[in-house]
Amino acid sequence: MELQVLHIEKSFPGVKALDGINFTVKEGTVHVLCGENGAGKSTLMKIINGIYSADSGEIRIDGKPVEIRNPMQARALGISMIFQELNYIPEISVEENLFVGRLPKNKVGGVDWKAVRKQTRELLDREQLPYSPQQKVKNLSVSDIQMLEILKAISYDSDIIIMDEPTSAITHTEVETLFKKIHELKARGKSIIYISHKMDEIFRIADEITILRDGQVVETRAKDDLDIETVISLMVGRKLDATYPKESVPIGQTLLEVENLCSERLFKNVSFSARAGEIIGFSGLMGAGRTEVMCSVFGLDSHDSGSIRIRGKEVKASGVQESITNKLVMLSEDRKRYGIIPIRSVRENVSLSSLKQFFRKGRLYARQEDAAVEKVCASMNVKTPSLDTVVEALSGGNQQKVVLAKWMLSDPDVLILDEPTRGIDVGAKFEIYKLMMDLARMGKAIVMVSSELPELIGMCDRIYVMANGAVAGELERKDYSQEAIMRLATGVGSERVDHV
Ligand SMILES: Nc1ncnc2c1ncn2[C@@H]1O[C@H](COP(=O)(O)OP(=O)(O)OP(=O)(O)O)[C@@H](O)[C@H]1O
Ligand SMILES: [Mg+2]
Repeated sequence: MELQVLHIEKSFPGVKALDGINFTVKEGTVHVLCGENGAGKSTLMKIINGIYSADSGEIRIDGKPVEIRNPMQARALGISMIFQELNYIPEISVEENLFVGRLPKNKVGGVDWKAVRKQTRELLDREQLPYSPQQKVKNLSVSDIQMLEILKAISYDSDIIIMDEPTSAITHTEVETLFKKIHELKARGKSIIYISHKMDEIFRIADEITILRDGQVVETRAKDDLDIETVISLMVGRKLDATYPKESVPIGQTLLEVENLCSERLFKNVSFSARAGEIIGFSGLMGAGRTEVMCSVFGLDSHDSGSIRIRGKEVKASGVQESITNKLVMLSEDRKRYGIIPIRSVRENVSLSSLKQFFRKGRLYARQEDAAVEKVCASMNVKTPSLDTVVEALSGGNQQKVVLAKWMLSDPDVLILDEPTRGIDVGAKFEIYKLMMDLARMGKAIVMVSSELPELIGMCDRIYVMANGAVAGELERKDYSQEAIMRLATGVGSERVDHV
């Protein structure tokens, strides 16, 4: 089936998100959509999926104009979508999640739970996913939830599957599984619209690439006629400096010291430290326990034994409020759960953790608050129509920047950044690296958890590598290589015996 989008326009209050889009997806192809944060990618996809209606323009399927008013109609026409922002309902079970809106009925018109369970089992077995159909979704990890969403979309057997940054939260192995699936789907004549900021992925699976900038199509070309540099310069409209803005800054006292931290089942004897001016990295495969450790240090989760010291003083890490008071903050990898309040404005989200700065003698100094919020948002290039816009209305990458802005404003000493550049476009990534450098220069300590080896290698003074809930090794800058890190992460390094 061929999908054609003609002259689509879409405005939101204060922004023209799409400005005359023409776009064709051929049958049996993978069509990649690229563009900076806020370029309009998700908006265009939501129009094709019937979530938003276009202000004007037309959608055609195999040459025939169609109306798509909601996702149900989209599905009936053979279109399904995996969303960038995971929209799961925490309290429902895996099977309910998979069959929501299409639960099979029994003879008397009730839900046929036996059939639901059987089909869910079959699906989970076929995909070798180790969860039970009745397990609550909230107990799954982010990567499991993402994988479930992918499965769900594929299980509709649609002709066109839209994947909006499907790999932002899944493991390397799962990425390979997904790519194999995409090849199978393509072989069966299905088409995939694939949105990603990851250039290596894009060039692995694309047949065609369309580049959006500021709501317009800059170019559609066959992948073979493009290279990474060209795509990036078409995206940002200028040449990018592709080196990391790493410089050496004076290193001061130890600000964060974690010793023998243990949490039953999750991690054991984790020790690390970060000094003023340092950027330290945490590498490891998904599931190695990095996020779990950071959540315990920040006080989101408890720990069983071990100690945490901030500026030399032992802290309990019993709650987020305590950590903020101690000037330790964390950017969480799951911003929906911990980072933002989606229905509140940019202003409120950014100033939320710093309100104390603006309260004096029982009075809120709103003008100062405004100025501070404006300054920090501008320094990070948060793209928003105004500070009163609800965060929910921003593009995915810009929501991430709002969380960062919030923590910047709270003037912390130690920042834990869990996957800070996930979902962030190439241009903005470098803005974030520069910001990290600014913070280091100001004498803050930064702990960066990342799955992208190049950014760890590019930005960190030291890298701790975790495997199976323990620190497998610590590397200094002079010992960095992707290979050395991977060896520790996969446990090969520790078991190797030298037979000389
Ligand atoms: N519901 C909404 N209400 C108001 N403005 C919106 C809404 N959804 C998107 N926008 C605006 O439309 C523009 C395009 O956003 P969109 O989410 O399509 O970007 P994107 O290309 O998907 O970016 P990212 O890479 O960050 O996900 C942005 O300026 C965004 O703030
Ligand atoms: Mg998006």
